[in-house]
Amino acid sequence: MTKLLIIVGSTRPGRSADAVVPWVVKSAREHGTFDVEVADLRDWPLPHFAEHFGTIGDFNDPTYSDPAVKAWNNKVKEADAFIVVTPEYNHSVPGVLKNAIDTVWLSFGFRNKPVGSVGYSGGISGAIRAIEHLAHIFVEAEAVPLRNTVILPQVGEAFDEAGEPASPMPAAAMGVLLDDLAWWSAALEMARAQGELIPGSFRVRAAVAAATAKA
Ligand SMILES: Cc1cc2nc3c(=O)[nH]c(=O)nc-3n(C[C@H](O)[C@H](O)[C@H](O)COP(=O)(O)O)c2cc1C
Repeated sequence: MTKLLIIVGSTRPGRSADAVVPWVVKSAREHGTFDVEVADLRDWPLPHFAEHFGTIGDFNDPTYSDPAVKAWNNKVKEADAFIVVTPEYNHSVPGVLKNAIDTVWLSFGFRNKPVGSVGYSGGISGAIRAIEHLAHIFVEAEAVPLRNTVILPQVGEAFDEAGEPASPMPAAAMGVLLDDLAWWSAALEMARAQGELIPGSFRVRAAVAAATAKA
């Protein structure tokens, strides 16, 4: 079964995320395709990113500066697909979420895997700007950010007392996102099994070194 890691991107006390995440988890489980696990960044108090080549040790099994950094890299690496649940802070993602993504460094844990986004906000934006930023960030992580997303504006009124969406749109969008995630994770699992290219940054460096040596 495809291992889906749902990353909760807000950690502050009283967060609105707690209205959103149970529905996201339930929807993902009901889809039937995924072995669902939640990575609540509250449970992952990662240090501010401070890795460098001196903290890595063995490139094939990096040590990092802190056991939590290594554990987080391993947690991401063992997943096949991701849903990121994010609010919008100053038109982007929370710093804690960006830090968690940056912390996946040199393990390439997001590489060649699909990422779906669920955004919410207190106002009318539904975190669309944060979701757009997330797509840019995940391209650099060599992940595959999906086109179809779930946006939840005015999150305070978005769910009824049973925790279900108060309007039809979120469930419809979630169904599309999960179908896309299932399709992409199956396609990319197959592709990864057939062999992956060395990360592009390494290949460019090697090609430049080879060209320089020849000159
Ligand atoms: C630091 C900060 C910045 C925010 N910036 C935005 C923003 O740019 N756009 C927006 O629609 N809402 C913004 N909001 C409102 C959030 O969408 C709203 O507070 C939401 O509940 C945050 O999610 P959380 O409670 O799970 O952390 C901001 C809130 C905070 C605390």
